[in-house]
Amino acid sequence: MNTKVEDIKQQLDEFLVESSQQLEEFRLQFLSKKSDLQQLLSQIKNVTPELRKEFGQRVNELKYYAQELFDKHKNRVEETVIQRISEIDITSPSTLYKSGAIHPVSLVMNEVCEIFERIGFAIVSGPDIEDDWYVFSALNFAKEHPARDMQDTFFVNANPELLLRTHTSSLQVRTMEKCPPPIRVICPGRVYRNETITARSHCIFHQVEGLYVAQNVSFSDMKQVLLFFAKEMFGQETKIRLRPSYFPFTEPSAEMDIECKICSGKGCNVCKYSGWVEILGCGMVDPNVLENCSINPSKYNGYAFGLGIERMAMLKFKISDIRLFFENDVRFLEQFANVR
Ligand code: DAH
Repeated sequence: MNTKVEDIKQQLDEFLVESSQQLEEFRLQFLSKKSDLQQLLSQIKNVTPELRKEFGQRVNELKYYAQELFDKHKNRVEETVIQRISEIDITSPSTLYKSGAIHPVSLVMNEVCEIFERIGFAIVSGPDIEDDWYVFSALNFAKEHPARDMQDTFFVNANPELLLRTHTSSLQVRTMEKCPPPIRVICPGRVYRNETITARSHCIFHQVEGLYVAQNVSFSDMKQVLLFFAKEMFGQETKIRLRPSYFPFTEPSAEMDIECKICSGKGCNVCKYSGWVEILGCGMVDPNVLENCSINPSKYNGYAFGLGIERMAMLKFKISDIRLFFENDVRFLEQFANVR
């Protein structure tokens, strides 16, 4: 019994306490209910009466000794913690984290919206998941049109009535259904197509749709607005050209090119040596579409256009691979930190 007391005393003296964790270990080993010292205290009553007094005294002294030692260690550990905190210079500048940059797609999308807002267009947005009506039927797509095919459109597995919008033209329908003319809106958004991913096409991209519906709207009104846009976006010297085209929801329809910014119209691989690059589709809203949205086509008419954001960002920033926009490589993105 007495040697046990000696042992514990020695362990107490040798126990190193330099951190709050070690302090807790000390407490568990010497002061907790399950500690050897506690066991000894509970054995006092079993010692023969003639030895009990002396043994009891020794064990109790050891207990006080352990408690005193614990208090000393505790004070010391607390003091070092306080000292360490006071050594921290709270006035020193904090670690500099690199600030993020606005994604080039957002930069271009914001700029497009800003230009049209300046001439009175309001911004409208809507759901990415649509049904056939908003993406195809209301927009005068024939029942057997290939865009309705699974090869081109992503359908929702759980409900094949639903699909991911293939263009932002769906927002024309949503707007016309809700608002009576005059209508003057632009609709930015993400679109989805079941396409093979290459340097020039992706299954996700962004468009901005424009719609103007009023009375006596002419094709030349549209042309002038689009020319204004092209000059604001790409510089005052920018030239445009309109080529006849076909879209189910516009009649007549056109595609608009701007003079290639990469080679200034001289011809390069981006413009396929034509000197021109297509940036949008446009046309006069087909009377069937107005009717589908309960707008009287004998009273109102209008124009619509849809532009591809990635294509414009590629031209503006001279980027040759569309995949870069979706890979989120910081080395690519940080190059836009100072672009506004
Ligand atoms: N929705 C067409 C597309 O995704 C683009 C477009 C063409 C939009 C002509 C229009 C338009 O509003 O009038 O290719």
